[in-house]
Amino acid sequence: MSIVCILIGPPGSGKSTVGALVAQMLGADFADTDRLVEERADRSVSEIFIELGEAHFRELEAAAVEVALEGSGVVALGGGAVMNPATAELVRRLALPVVFLDVSITSAAPRIGFNRDRPLLVGNPRAQWLSLMQTRRATYEDLASYTVSTDERTPQAIAADIVGQIRGAA
Ligand code: S3P
Repeated sequence: MSIVCILIGPPGSGKSTVGALVAQMLGADFADTDRLVEERADRSVSEIFIELGEAHFRELEAAAVEVALEGSGVVALGGGAVMNPATAELVRRLALPVVFLDVSITSAAPRIGFNRDRPLLVGNPRAQWLSLMQTRRATYEDLASYTVSTDERTPQAIAADIVGQIRGAA
């Protein structure tokens, strides 16, 4: 099997939860670049940000994305991964289905509110998230083959929607 889809979107959009479900429904592998970075660095994302800095995290992330996209199944990219132009170019060049999981601050807030493993949102998570989304939305939309709103829908319903889109396009 090759890559069946790539999930992009901001923190709290449900990439990890939905990605794992899509993979399960398709009987495919699932890779999450944050987990891959953590395994390869033997540290949590937060520890990498604190001990090594964001720039170093972004290098590890770009390398992890390359590895993940050489694999198979469903791949969820960390929220900021596609802001690296080389990563965005790689995603574009592969011409695979890219799903942008869109979400409002109202739905994202409860998911990200108390999660200490999101170092970029430390301080004022709400304002940080809104600012990230404002900067990134155009890139997410530009790369997306299709956009799925995750507001007020269960992960199962979102995953079923994505599986339908993938099967419909195949
Ligand atoms: C980040 C999102 C996080 C993680 C890191 C930076 C971002 O992943 O990669 O904390 O820049 O938006 P999730 O999108 O899975 O939360």
